[in-house]
Amino acid sequence: MKYTLVTGASAGIGEALARKLAQRKHNLVLVARNAEKLAEMRKQLQQQYGIQVAFIAADLSKPDAADQIFRETQQQNWEIDALVNNAGIGSGGEFATLSLASELALLQLNNASLVAMTHLFLKPMRERRRGTIINVASMAAFAPIPYMATYAASKAFVRAFTEAIAEECQPYGVHLMLFAPGLTKTNFNESAGINNEKSIGLSSDYQTAVHQTAEEVADELLQAWDTKKQFYVSGRRNRLGFRLVALMPHTTIARYMARSYRKKLAQQSLPS
Ligand SMILES: NC(=O)c1ccc[n+]([C@@H]2O[C@H](COP(=O)([O-])OP(=O)(O)OC[C@H]3O[C@@H](n4cnc5c(N)ncnc54)[C@H](OP(=O)(O)O)[C@@H]3O)[C@@H](O)[C@H]2O)c1
Repeated sequence: MKYTLVTGASAGIGEALARKLAQRKHNLVLVARNAEKLAEMRKQLQQQYGIQVAFIAADLSKPDAADQIFRETQQQNWEIDALVNNAGIGSGGEFATLSLASELALLQLNNASLVAMTHLFLKPMRERRRGTIINVASMAAFAPIPYMATYAASKAFVRAFTEAIAEECQPYGVHLMLFAPGLTKTNFNESAGINNEKSIGLSSDYQTAVHQTAEEVADELLQAWDTKKQFYVSGRRNRLGFRLVALMPHTTIARYMARSYRKKLAQQSLPS
């Protein structure tokens, strides 16, 4: 039986996507750490849509997680026809002051596990000459971002990696897509610690900043999937931003962002 596997399915964009895929009658394998939430979603989606839903509770910031997930799908005979590598975490603040262990765990989750999942699930897709892999990057993939340096660099990696493999996969009938959301209202900032005291200047106020909801982002992802896009930026304003960023040197963007972050931080530190 064919399944779509979604990582980071317990919250935010991944959860919204899983719910929309269930409406479209995809059988699902849900992956995240929160087993309780995944079990609840399994029960609800199976009852509501009459589909098969399985889940694997796994921590993709651990080096052996992708292998364990792949082995479980093989043992259970779940044919993974589509894979959405959506799980990801951010980090914010002055790089030298951040925990090195957390930065390296971010790279394991956002990059190494994504590469491992792509590698493991791509092989059977190539043999079947069919399949889809969607890697979720970010607007942060398109320029360096001071005070979010590791996160932005991790998403730049996802972009370059996915664009290259997408072309390699053309002759095998396997569709790869790089999907880049912009600011989306989820738990992302809280999980990344971007709302803490040191990095408050990085957080965007959802009341005033232009953002999409997770449901809007999931809808755009599905439209891009339906039309077999290899590269897709979610949100009209983000697409415009992407075009503008492409015209500017990275050094200029980085300097501007660093200055505006320091200015914002200084304003926040002033006694009112
Ligand atoms: N929100 C934004 O503004 C935004 C903008 C651009 C790109 N993105 C990208 O969109 C993707 C989804 O983000 P989101 O906004 O939906 O974030 P979110 O609401 O924080 O959800 C993140 C999901 O990833 C899972 N996850 C986190 N760490 C994990 C780990 N170590 N192992 C396995 N699963 C893990 C979480 O589940 P558990 O906690 O249960 O593990 C959750 O299901 C990320 O790749 C992010 O970089 C987000």
